[in-house]
Amino acid sequence: MADSQWHSIEGVDLQTASFPLTVEAGGEEILIFKVGQKLCGIQRICPHQEADLETGKVMGEMLKCPHHGYIFHFITGKCLNFTGVHADVYEVVSEGNLLRVRRRD
Ligand code: FES
Repeated sequence: MADSQWHSIEGVDLQTASFPLTVEAGGEEILIFKVGQKLCGIQRICPHQEADLETGKVMGEMLKCPHHGYIFHFITGKCLNFTGVHADVYEVVSEGNLLRVRRRD
């Protein structure tokens, strides 16, 4: 996603949704994880060598890629165990059955 505008996704029932939830916003596939009481979004495809992060392991506020084990912070997008790699991460707000998603700067 080239911008940091809010994107709306309608018809999402968080009560019955299974996580990670895959949504599309601004032409990008985004995974939404439930981290404690928060919703955190991250690009679906790993920025290292394009593994699918859907089966990544959540570790607190971090996600570990299932392929090579790079660990990304959900809030900053920073890779914590390898320099020079960064993931797009997203703010996620729930309003009833509407999700609003915006790329973090
Ligand atoms: S593809 Fe994700 S760490 Fe290599």
